[in-house]
Amino acid sequence: MARIIVVSAAEFGRAATEMIIYHFLTHRRPVVCWPSGSTPREVYAVLIEETRRGTISFVNVESFALDEWGEVSDVRLSCAYDLRSRVFDRVGVPERQVHVWPPRATPEDCIAYESLIADCGGLTLGVLGIGLNGHVGLNEPGSDVDSRTRIVTLTPLTQRLARKNYGFPHPPAYGVTVGLATLMESRELLLLAQGSTKAPIIRRLLQEAPSEALPASLLLDHPHLTIMIDSDAAQGILRIPIWHQSSQTQEGNVT
Ligand code: PGA
Repeated sequence: MARIIVVSAAEFGRAATEMIIYHFLTHRRPVVCWPSGSTPREVYAVLIEETRRGTISFVNVESFALDEWGEVSDVRLSCAYDLRSRVFDRVGVPERQVHVWPPRATPEDCIAYESLIADCGGLTLGVLGIGLNGHVGLNEPGSDVDSRTRIVTLTPLTQRLARKNYGFPHPPAYGVTVGLATLMESRELLLLAQGSTKAPIIRRLLQEAPSEALPASLLLDHPHLTIMIDSDAAQGILRIPIWHQSSQTQEGNVT
């Protein structure tokens, strides 16, 4: 059952980070997958601040990139570079605990990545954004709930947004992502959405029956899923009937 928390835009970064801090303080060896993109920008800034302050430490944290573009002409466009420069290198994650994909990852790299997560005991926390098409990581619409870490073909929308938002001269045709089954096995999931552009997909997420057409909805059955959204992304959610399907289909049981 999902827990939905709505906070003001001003509080979003700190509120989300407090959940991550709590996770760090209650897990001896957190195994976390981290998203790149714009959503976690403030979260990473607060994590850096709190690490400097000594509230938390990344010394025991295994850090995995959630996803990666398949082709990057410039390494600075890669999720690995983004995560290293924006957070990993600035909070002192030990290098042996940084797990990112090599450029042009192969199916063998995906199998190795999945094994590495398993060797660490599985994810304890998956921090996730959500795409305008409902993807999580790069689990695009059509992704199976049983999917594992793998290479995925990107939808035209994701390719367009990669060009617009991340400055790709030529949008990548494919990417690699931690799969939905791997995320479902994570002890906790924290899905973040910020800004009015995310409001329509958040409404759909809470309104539609879970399906592969909206991959994030396949995570709604996770026993410890928190959806944290700011008030802009929450526009209209109080006016919709909430559909959440679990072992017993009920209405209105998303709290
Ligand atoms: P964004 O991307 O954080 O840049 O909005 C999220 C996503 O597409 O998964």
